[in-house]
Amino acid sequence: MGGKILVTGGAGYIGSHTAQLLVDAGNEVVVLDNLSNGDRALIPDGAAFVEGDVGDRALLAEILSPDFDAVLHFAGYLVVPDSVADPLSYYRNNTLNSHGLIETAVNAGVKHFIFSSTAATYGDAGTEPVTEDTPPNPASPYGRSKLITEWMLRDTAAAHDLTYVALRYFNVAGADPTGRRGQVSKNATHLIKLAVEVLTGQRDHMTIFGDDYNTPDGTGVRDYIHVVDLADAHVRALDYLRRGGDSQVLNCGYGKGSSVKQVIAALERVSNQKVNALTGPRRPGDVAEVVAEASRIRGLLGWQPRYDDLELIVKTALDWERKRIGQG
Ligand code: UFG
Repeated sequence: MGGKILVTGGAGYIGSHTAQLLVDAGNEVVVLDNLSNGDRALIPDGAAFVEGDVGDRALLAEILSPDFDAVLHFAGYLVVPDSVADPLSYYRNNTLNSHGLIETAVNAGVKHFIFSSTAATYGDAGTEPVTEDTPPNPASPYGRSKLITEWMLRDTAAAHDLTYVALRYFNVAGADPTGRRGQVSKNATHLIKLAVEVLTGQRDHMTIFGDDYNTPDGTGVRDYIHVVDLADAHVRALDYLRRGGDSQVLNCGYGKGSSVKQVIAALERVSNQKVNALTGPRRPGDVAEVVAEASRIRGLLGWQPRYDDLELIVKTALDWERKRIGQG
């Protein structure tokens, strides 16, 4: 077992699922979260909690004592259209704050860093699955704000005694199958979250953003990955670094695409209800298809997804939403 682990954004959706697995594996975990988009109730029992902002460098220096060996950095903004409207907030939260955290970690002698990156670093890469060697070409300030952080990590690892894994998430969805946690984001923009809000009566309808793409059924295709498999990838990435593994950038997806219509159909099957989905125009900034070439992470980390099943993904998301609003 290594030292203590700092988990920024550990009260959020992906951070809290990961913090739970780290605690389950016997690690000493400290969650830092400002609760702007997370929820105190999602922090696992057994993790220490510091309420504060990852941009607070004095606080970071106070927390990161020599007994920490790893930082997992989830805290950040993640809504692509918001990043277009307010780029400087994204560069502050995702880039500047990461700079402060990396610098403080290096100064404190932290050896390992795991970073929440994104498939948005690829931009519109066409219809072939994207490999980690596909040149990044982010189409939004969001993607750029994350890519710059990857570059900071690469340069820092070359100059200092730090190794890192940047995990490029594809479309994360679903919830802990035991019902302890799931997505809580206010004003969600994500397909599966919106669709379950319709099914649970919180919205009257949803819109399919375009059915004239060059895809089999005309709707957008994405690589949906269950949040618990993604959390497990973080735990494995940390084990890998602790065993002396080299720094890596790794895609986190299943390597399989599902269309908007397929997602809605899966939800209708598991719920036995109709989703009120209207067809509307394309959403600006959307691409037709983004699917991971996902073999590197399996080979390197021995990662074996357990929830690679669209119905299971949408069912756990729906079960969580029902529970969250008291229908479960
Ligand atoms: N969609 C709809 N209706 C909705 C919401 C989404 O039809 O109400 C469609 C989108 O057009 C897209 C698909 O569902 O085809 C998925 O959209 P999401 O908003 O759920 O997710 P994105 O693919 O736009 O974004 C995700 C992550 C981002 C990341 C990006 C990288 O959420 O953080 O993938 O490709 F940057």
